[in-house]
Amino acid sequence: MDQGEIVFMDRVSLRYQEGLSVLKGLSLRLFPRSFHFLTGSSGAGKSSLLRLLYLGLRPTAGTLKIFGTDVQHVSMREASLLRRRVGVVFQDFNLIEHLSVLENVMLPLKVRQESPAARQEQARELLSWVGLEEYVDTLPQRLSGGQRQRVAIARAVVGRPDLLLADEPTGNVDDKMARKLFHLFDGLHKMGTCVVLATHSRHFVDLFPYPELHLENGRLTPHLGKEESPLEIL
Ligand SMILES: Nc1ncnc2c1ncn2[C@@H]1O[C@H](COP(=O)(O)OP(=O)(O)O)[C@@H](O)[C@H]1O
Ligand SMILES: [Mg+2]
Repeated sequence: MDQGEIVFMDRVSLRYQEGLSVLKGLSLRLFPRSFHFLTGSSGAGKSSLLRLLYLGLRPTAGTLKIFGTDVQHVSMREASLLRRRVGVVFQDFNLIEHLSVLENVMLPLKVRQESPAARQEQARELLSWVGLEEYVDTLPQRLSGGQRQRVAIARAVVGRPDLLLADEPTGNVDDKMARKLFHLFDGLHKMGTCVVLATHSRHFVDLFPYPELHLENGRLTPHLGKEESPLEIL
């Protein structure tokens, strides 16, 4: 395996209980500083694939390594250390309801050495960038869907993770905000984060020069009309 490989998948399959296989023998390698769109119709398995990548689920078959570590053999503690390097924008946001917007966004910074004041400044800066400066002390339940989504995004990117997984992160915001958020992900990628972004927005997939991983019938296929990434899809 290459030094520094972020994701290594070898014939990974996923099945929920006794159901059909959702993902069938996927082989994939993602490298630092790469950016991939993840596309496919509803139910194609995008969220399931992202769940594997943040260790929310383990493969039913095959080998999955994250940051060089085989996920089948990691302890809870090792898994939690790996997760600290991953930022996730969940499709349903997963905000902590009893914490304020600012506290939610500061969560990933808790493990950092910086002073609380420095952490708060970073979180505030990002919240203001996504247009939520007036809501720092608000509880998530008082926000609209689009506002909650922006909190989830701020929380996922604030720690400049090595791997960012975003599950349809602009599904609830208007086009102008979506454009701004895509530029935020692009900026994070340019600073060194490996980004995997599930989206239905053909417009943004075509706007950015990044390859597309397309899920269909449980398999990854290079999408016609978009630059293929033969090195990544094995
Ligand atoms: N927790 C679950 N238990 C059983 N089946 C599931 C579960 N989550 C998703 N599925 C099924 O897996 C398939 C892929 O779902 P999902 O990964 O959510 O697709 P997408 O994100 O592309 O819409 C769907 O058929 C869905 O019904
Ligand atoms: Mg989904």
